[in-house]
Amino acid sequence: MSNYKSVIQDYLSNLEKFLKTGDAKEHTYRPAFQHLIENLTEDIQVINEPAYTGGNAPDFLFKKGDTPIAYAECKDIDIDISKKEVQDQAKRYVDAFGKILLTNYIDLEIIDENGSVVKIAIAELDNNKNLEIFEDKFEAFADIIRDYMTTTPQTIKSAKKLAKIMANKAKILRDNARASLDQNEQSDIFKQYRTFQEVLIRDLSKEEFADMYAQTLVYGLFVARYYDPTLKTFSRYEAQDLLPATNPLLKKFFGHVAGTDYDQKIAWIVDSLIETYLATDVAGIMHKEFVKKSKDPVLHFYETFLTEYDKGLRKSRGVYYTPEPVVSFIVRSVDQILKSKFGLVKGLADTSKIPHIKKIQATDGRTTDNIKQITDDIHKVQILDPAVGTGTFLNEVIHEIHKNFVGQEGMWSGYVKEHLLPRLHGFELMMASYTMAHLKLGVTLAELGYNGDERLSVWLTNSLEQGVHEVPNLFMSEWLTEESNKASYIKSDLPIMVVIGNPPYSGVSSNNSKEATRLADKYKIEPGGKQKLQERKHWLNDDYVKFISFAEDQIEKTGEGIVSFITPHGYIDNPTFRGMRWHLLKTFDEIYIVDLHGNSLKKESAPDGGKDENVFNIQQGVSIIFGIKKKESENELANVYHLDIYGKREEKYKILSELNFENVKWDNVKYQHPQYTFLSRDYKLKDEYEKSF
Ligand SMILES: C[S@@+](CC[C@H](N)C(=O)[O-])C[C@H]1O[C@@H](n2cnc3c(N)ncnc32)[C@H](O)[C@@H]1O
Repeated sequence: MSNYKSVIQDYLSNLEKFLKTGDAKEHTYRPAFQHLIENLTEDIQVINEPAYTGGNAPDFLFKKGDTPIAYAECKDIDIDISKKEVQDQAKRYVDAFGKILLTNYIDLEIIDENGSVVKIAIAELDNNKNLEIFEDKFEAFADIIRDYMTTTPQTIKSAKKLAKIMANKAKILRDNARASLDQNEQSDIFKQYRTFQEVLIRDLSKEEFADMYAQTLVYGLFVARYYDPTLKTFSRYEAQDLLPATNPLLKKFFGHVAGTDYDQKIAWIVDSLIETYLATDVAGIMHKEFVKKSKDPVLHFYETFLTEYDKGLRKSRGVYYTPEPVVSFIVRSVDQILKSKFGLVKGLADTSKIPHIKKIQATDGRTTDNIKQITDDIHKVQILDPAVGTGTFLNEVIHEIHKNFVGQEGMWSGYVKEHLLPRLHGFELMMASYTMAHLKLGVTLAELGYNGDERLSVWLTNSLEQGVHEVPNLFMSEWLTEESNKASYIKSDLPIMVVIGNPPYSGVSSNNSKEATRLADKYKIEPGGKQKLQERKHWLNDDYVKFISFAEDQIEKTGEGIVSFITPHGYIDNPTFRGMRWHLLKTFDEIYIVDLHGNSLKKESAPDGGKDENVFNIQQGVSIIFGIKKKESENELANVYHLDIYGKREEKYKILSELNFENVKWDNVKYQHPQYTFLSRDYKLKDEYEKSF
């Protein structure tokens, strides 16, 4: 460390020299500033990173060894750094990094996350562009700089704070990824964007892709860190090793992040994120705030993160984790229904097989279309969650099935490979959730004793689109196409017997493909199926309706099976949904509705006048459906059974946790033409009908 007085004096002399040239800009002073910091501190590497320019990043990065410890943002010497736009930008950096050094090379501010600001000036610029030097401030200035470089990184003690910092870094990452997409069409990230457009979401905008990219990285790395057994180390390279080796798409995605040629505009923020994860007791915080309260941290924290990152997005894609009591009630009930109504004594754990005709590419030229059919034996109880999110339902299915192995744990690993993984399927559209589902389900299987490395049948795909994709050879396209094609086989060929889940709910659906439209149009008919509905029917375009329709198609394709979803409850009695109800009545033999109410739009209250709350943080009331179709139908239209559950959220959770499907006192609904409402009380109907016009 050199003598501060001469170092600062030399620095200011340099600034004066540049000032005299008359054409100095903000960048001109940077080497002098770098030199100043290097000479005032010890062991600090000062990086004035040209690769950052053009993106959203502070001008300087300060590192100790490999660890990024602080950042600085510089403005031109004649800029007033107390100006609002300068302060706003500084605030964004403070939110992401905990503190920032802001300077115009003579005034300096250190701003930290507690709102504390240290200000000092070592000179003043007069009207003739001369510097008036404040020598008496030199010592304090040197101390402030040294202190800034030695203070420990942000201390993160709560999930909310961790989510906030992750979200702020994710925002910078998103903005920089977005800038990269415009700047270089040859970059890996641009090629990935084109591949996602080509294969997955045709109208995916650059903004949406940048967002998906940022979320996947930030949250994917978080989950990898949460499961990381080596607490002392973590890096982009290590994260790659924590991902399931059998998922080529994830390996490829995170492999490119760990690569040496990774985009510099993005690499620095990923490194800073890694630092946050390293400096934080991630597992401790998650344990205190979630595990101890029996909440799955990977799931629950995702919602905390998304709320900080982008509330609107969370809503528009319908991202809400499903409460554990709901998931467990649905999974337990499906298990019971398989036993009691389909005669499968092992329920979800059933391993029986059925013959299945499979179409394959022929090479012998015997058929005109070069497709030949072979008969294969496949498992009967094929299970699909078409909106898998973070994998809650499939996770519960695994746990439910594992109960059959108590005392025979040694058989589990073989069973998973032979009889479970071939039957468990999921689809998900968002890469971040998909990544989480793979990580989480992989960890669950391993924790329960599975030691194989078979790939999970969870695919990145749009459930509401059909067809096999042929796409040009783009970056990652091979893996993404494989995802879509495998999903396509499941959608059109595999006899799915159980469709479960919590599909997205969105009045204004983002799913408007031809297939998605067909799925909604199927219900826009008068009961009887001949005449189109004449009234306004946009409520039928809600995503949840399309997913019910998709699930119904799956069971029709198989000829028997169960659909169980939690969705908004509007379709139970809203007059515009009469065609949908009739369609469901035609397909299924029995329909069970557990109405969980909680509609704050209708200001629902319990029949006894007590408070009625939603099981989610949403306004529409919700219900659970069990649609059961047997091979041999007994009636023209299904029998409908109904149960109302009112009360506070926690009371509803308790009821669901204890509810046994077989022992419920169902109300046997006597529906009537032309409304076919799935409840006995018709007085609600009138209100609803009037409201819909
Ligand atoms: C309500 S969330 C499911 C939550 C999940 N059960 C859980 O608890 O994590 C709905 C999920 O469906 C996904 N999704 C939305 N549209 C989709 C589509 N067209 N195809 C596949 N998944 C979709 C969303 O990204 C979201 O993860």
